[in-house]
Amino acid sequence: MDGEEVSRATDPFEIRRLDPIGVEIVGLDLAGPVDEGAFRSLRETIVREGLVLLREQWLDAATQIALGRRFGPLENTSLDLGELDESKIQLSNVDGAGRLRGQNELEMRLVAINEGWHSDGSFRDVPASFSLFLAETVPEEGGDTFYLSLERAWQALSPDERQLLYGLRAVHDYERAYAVRGIDLGDFFGDSPPVASHPLVLRHPESGRTGLFVSEHVFEIEGMAEAEARPLLDRLMAVCTAPENVYRHRWSVGDLLIWDNRSTLHRAQGFDSRHPRVMRHVRVAGFEAPIPASATG
Ligand code: SIN
Repeated sequence: MDGEEVSRATDPFEIRRLDPIGVEIVGLDLAGPVDEGAFRSLRETIVREGLVLLREQWLDAATQIALGRRFGPLENTSLDLGELDESKIQLSNVDGAGRLRGQNELEMRLVAINEGWHSDGSFRDVPASFSLFLAETVPEEGGDTFYLSLERAWQALSPDERQLLYGLRAVHDYERAYAVRGIDLGDFFGDSPPVASHPLVLRHPESGRTGLFVSEHVFEIEGMAEAEARPLLDRLMAVCTAPENVYRHRWSVGDLLIWDNRSTLHRAQGFDSRHPRVMRHVRVAGFEAPIPASATG
């Protein structure tokens, strides 16, 4: 239930449940010094809950990057797989000259891929772990972000359905996800096409919990004909996106959402591009390739 207090005695902050997934942390100012104990509790809360909201966080970009680095090495959030460019952590429809980008400009069409349910960097062999997303400027309408729990989706499957999924591998194919949206990535990624195969059923490396690992960027299950895979993927996405598994976040300036890409999916809502929306995205690289879960634990 939204707002229900679920703090533990050891937490140096208050925790309130969001509805139906995630929690809000109250009483932690990430713009100021955060001691090791508070950081550890924050990280544990994110792993346990999948999604954490902190409001009124007035972090500048350097502080947000430094906070991200406390979780681990950062990943480049722009499409090319080069070095992280710290001046490019904005996800924005305002260009460097302050001009609003039109919906049909390539940058905006590329970003629109985020409107499909996904987990950050799943096209990499080692996908991203945590994402830290902060609102700088928000439109009056639209531009919400939706989140769901891959662990709750797993729990919602019947035992028979679960048995069928162990051992399967899903292909996360961004090239195809863009092609579906009419964008030919060409040789954008050079010798490293944005495609990776991952277990369909994961064991979270830190919590040990089991989750489904699908997304709208999966079109193929290894060794399965597409005519068989498509209805299965549609069924799994329907379970994932059931309304009782989806939290919708209406952004206010200063909101910071931190999520664990290993247990959640998210998607952006479109918005009227005549209004500015400026977000800052810091992404933490993964620590290991996804681990398959097995029926025996
Ligand atoms: C993302 O998918 O990483 C960004 C979501 C958003 O823009 O709301």
